[in-house]
This record gives sequence, C-alpha cells and structure tokens, in this order.
Amino acid sequence: MRNVFLFSFLFILSATLCAQRPAANGERWYDTGGKQINAHGGGVLQWKGRYYWFGEDKDTVTNAALTGVSCYVSRDLRRWKKMPTALSVDTTDATSPIARGCTLERPKVIYCPLTKQFVMWFHLELKGRGYSAALAGVATARRPEGPYTFVRAERVNAGLLPVGMNQAERQRMDTLREENYAEWWTPQWRQAIADGLFLRRDLRGGQMARDMQLYVDADGTAYHIYSSEDNLTLHIAELTPDFTRHTGRYIRVAPGQQNEAPCLWRHGGWYWLLCSGCTGWAPNAARLYRAPSIWGPWEGDLGNPCRSDAPLRPASKTFLGQGTYVLTLPNGTELFMADEWHPQRPADGRYLWLPISYTADGMPRIVWERIKVPSKKITGKSCRSWHTMLNPRRMKCVVGY
Ligand code: DGJ
Repeated sequence: MRNVFLFSFLFILSATLCAQRPAANGERWYDTGGKQINAHGGGVLQWKGRYYWFGEDKDTVTNAALTGVSCYVSRDLRRWKKMPTALSVDTTDATSPIARGCTLERPKVIYCPLTKQFVMWFHLELKGRGYSAALAGVATARRPEGPYTFVRAERVNAGLLPVGMNQAERQRMDTLREENYAEWWTPQWRQAIADGLFLRRDLRGGQMARDMQLYVDADGTAYHIYSSEDNLTLHIAELTPDFTRHTGRYIRVAPGQQNEAPCLWRHGGWYWLLCSGCTGWAPNAARLYRAPSIWGPWEGDLGNPCRSDAPLRPASKTFLGQGTYVLTLPNGTELFMADEWHPQRPADGRYLWLPISYTADGMPRIVWERIKVPSKKITGKSCRSWHTMLNPRRMKCVVGY
C-alpha cells in the first residue's frame, strides 16, 4: 500500500514538474495546468511584479479567430498560469467586427495612467474578407487580465498627411494615379509607392493597419506602429492621452521597403525597430532600423542582427521565427520574442525568446540559443546553469540543436 502512495506521489510530482519545466525555444511550452500555451503574435505587459502575456488564441486547424485573445500570468516568465479569455470574439452577433471567424492578430496591451485602464490594440480583419479590411482594433479593461470590452476597429488617420510632408512631396503625391502603375514591382512603381501612391489612395478612408506594435515612450506618450499601405510602408502614429485613439500625428518609415512584424525598443540612445519581410507565414530575414527620436529620421535597413551556427535554425530565416515583441525586463535584459508559425495547425505554433546583446559599436545582436532565457528571479546565472538547475537531465540538449 505504501508503494502505491509513493508511486502516486511521484507520478503527480513529476507531472507537475513536467508542466512547469522550462521548455527550449521551438519546443512546446506548457502552462501550469499542463496545457500547451496558446498566445501567438503576442506581447507582454508588466504590472505590479507580474507578467501578463497576451496573444492570439489560435485554433487547431484554422487561422480564423474562434476564441479571441488569450492571457497568461507569471511572476518569473517560466511558469505561466492561463487566465480566462481576455478579449472574446462575438459569438452572438455575426455582424460584429469581431464576430467569431474574424482574423484577430498581434494583440498588445498597455496601461494608461490617465484613465487607469488597460488598453489593447490589435490587427483586425473582418470575417470572410481575407486581409482586405486592414483595421486597427481597440479594447479596454479595468484589470490587466481583462475582460476587455471591444471599443471600435477602423482604418487609421483618415484625411491626414504624415508629419513633415512638404509642399513638393505633397504635389508629387497628388500626381500619382494607380492606373498609371498597374504593374507592381517595377522600378517606377516602387518609386511611386515611396512617393505615396497608396498613401494617397487611402487618404480619404484611412490608412491600412496590419501587423502592429505598441510602444510607450519615457515621457508617457504611446505610439501605434503598423504595416500600412498594403504592407509596403510602416507608420508610427501617436495615440491620444487615453491611448484609445490616434492624435493624427504620424510618420512613414522605410517607404516601399515592405516590412511586417515591427518590434520597437529603446537602447543606448537609439530607438530600434526590428521587422521582418513579407512572406506570409514563412520565415525570412529580420531587418533593423534605428532613429535618434521616435519621429525619425529612421535609418536602415541596417541588416539582419540575427546570428546562428545551428543549420536548422538559420539566422537568414530569423531562426524560423518572426518577431512579435521586445520585452525589456526590470534588470535591463531585452528579450526578442518571436513566433514560429505552424499555419496548418496554428495552435501548435511555437515560441522563440532570445536575449538581445550589443556589439562593441552598439549594434544589436540576437544569437540563436535553444534554451529559453533566465527569469528575473535568477539574474546573474547563465542560461545553462539556470536550465540545468531546474532540470539537470536536459543538460545534454544545451549545446546546438
Ligand atoms: C505575416 C504576419 O506577420 C502575420 O501576423 C500574419 O498576418 C500572416 N502574415 C498572414 O499570412
């Protein structure tokens, strides 16, 4: 009988430890309930000593949103507890912009001290309309984990020109007609895009907003960064003090350079923007931009900061991932968070979290490591000892992939 108890105890203990095991990059990660973490295209809010990881709650077979935005809470970035759905799709009203079956991607949450609300922005595509709507959605909540109430979804900055566009640029843009550039990707078309062909096209109805990021600057101003103009040009747009609208002030970044997955952070006197190219769910090489002010001038493409000596995790493909967020921890560690998409079985997509380091001349580097980075609680320990400490049997997995 004693053996039965002992066996059961050991079984429960090992199941618990397994569920809390620090998984390696690209492996399945599990929550404290033993379920695979489902928070894709996400970001992390830090609030009162806790981390709130929000992401797309993906289905097993479709990329359409059948649930909404998931939320996981952790104190150490290692053990994640699943919370109730933070923002639910509308299952009762098929005409709602967030009707079940819409496409709801890359949710991010920030806290607004003015309203004491948590504000979530996301990329929204209407049900059955592919990626044509290109809307920015917003939802708010009183508590970090939600529930979030949908506020609105719309195109951005209708009728407004970017900050700093001069008279000559305006005149040039006004000469551009889509019918004169029917063939895409020619040098003339590229120049026309850079000069605002699509900016002009969408001026009245508002600019497209797809892959997105939020950033709250040191002075408390919040910004919405998104792929606009058919994913050809990024925009950085200022939000109102309540963080739920655009002020109308925005800039274009890297016109015509086709960037997705923008991740913005600040380090060493620079604003850094790490993006991907546009190849659907397939990985491609990351691109880097920097500026002395969020309003520019943005310089780049400065190249791909990724490095890898693992042939199956090539730097030229961002280790098979696509960026979603840069999380700066209280100890200054910056984590590049990326998704490894599995579009045929979306819920099984994986996560890659890697620390950002800097070269002697201050350029960011992201080096492939199979092991997830340490939590703030064990600052000072190397990834290896952190990992080994928790699960010595996995030591052999540390080197290479
Ligand atoms: C790449 C984007 O980064 C994803 O968020 C998603 O929109 C896919 N494209 C869709 O193909």
